[in-house]
Amino acid sequence: MEEEQQGIRTEICSSGKEKPKSDQLEFGTIFTDHMFMMDYTADKGWHDPRIVPYEPLNIEPSAMVFHYGQSVFEGMKAYLTSDGDAQLFRPQRNFSRMNHSNSRLCIPPIDEAFALKALKQLVGLEKDWIPEAEGTSLYIRPFIISTEAFLGVAPSSHYKFIIILSPVGAYYKEGINPVKIAVEHDYVRTVKGGTGEAKTGGNYAASLKAQEMAAEGIAQVLWLDGVERKYIEEVGSMNVFFKIDGTVVTPALNGSILEGVTRNSVIQLLKYWNVPVEERKLSMEEVIQAHKDGKLEEAFGAGTAAVISPIGELVRGEKHIEINEGNTGAIAKRLYDTLTGIQYGKIEDPFDWVEKVKDLKQTTLKASG
Ligand code: COI
Repeated sequence: MEEEQQGIRTEICSSGKEKPKSDQLEFGTIFTDHMFMMDYTADKGWHDPRIVPYEPLNIEPSAMVFHYGQSVFEGMKAYLTSDGDAQLFRPQRNFSRMNHSNSRLCIPPIDEAFALKALKQLVGLEKDWIPEAEGTSLYIRPFIISTEAFLGVAPSSHYKFIIILSPVGAYYKEGINPVKIAVEHDYVRTVKGGTGEAKTGGNYAASLKAQEMAAEGIAQVLWLDGVERKYIEEVGSMNVFFKIDGTVVTPALNGSILEGVTRNSVIQLLKYWNVPVEERKLSMEEVIQAHKDGKLEEAFGAGTAAVISPIGELVRGEKHIEINEGNTGAIAKRLYDTLTGIQYGKIEDPFDWVEKVKDLKQTTLKASG
């Protein structure tokens, strides 16, 4: 069954997959029936936008992405409200960040407004896949890969922009419970002038070794700056915040830290609540000293996948720094409740962050059947 909706060719697949039980979801293992795709060639620009059944891609082994890693991605979520509506959280920021990453990776920019329209159409069609259980959502993964069949090192002249959807539960098995994070000393994630503030696969590949070497029970590693190995950067799957003597401090964006959408939302909420918040350089020594002085009150990570993830313990070599006696702090809890409250439509959204998505399943099926 094929039709055209708002310039997007839509091919409905007839055999729907079985939906998972929403209270048993893990992160990123199940994918929905359809995906969005469009192509880029140097002569036509971005073209042939389409929603098609989710299936393996047919790509040449010589496609440049496999060899030189020219790719970018984003992460966002669709939430189901108690009224049964689907909504997105600040999706424009993700597409605008995608273009920022595109620019760093020499990938041609996408039309952000069109990408949002395509996303809404895909999510509207797959609305039945948004899980209902508390803390679950439909994770959205837009990504671009270079597909030209060529082994020279140069920007590709062919790309695919794809959006896939995955019903998910909590990113960390700990859920909202505090995680243990190891401070990384031997490896670095990126340096200034590198690709750290772009969301590109290579940054994540570079992070795997440290994660593998970290001890059992460590959820993630905390990266320090790549030059002095002194200043805190981010965790890789989330930005980090430390509450020191009443002030919430987060590393300033310095060119090697990802500008998180949740990070920005946390800062806005803290300002709105008149909680002192600072974006600045923060050394590991300062955190250790604050802990010694009894002034390290809380630590938490913030990201789309992780939401707000309290940090109960920092491990640095033999040293273990327990934070807030390993418990979730009051600020982390308030942020989690407020962000998820806005995302699931349970509380008022004073910032106009959420965007409703129309249910298209019925109209599309009627139109095509
Ligand atoms: C997200 O929070 O959406 C991310 O992209 C982090 C991730 C690598 C799971």
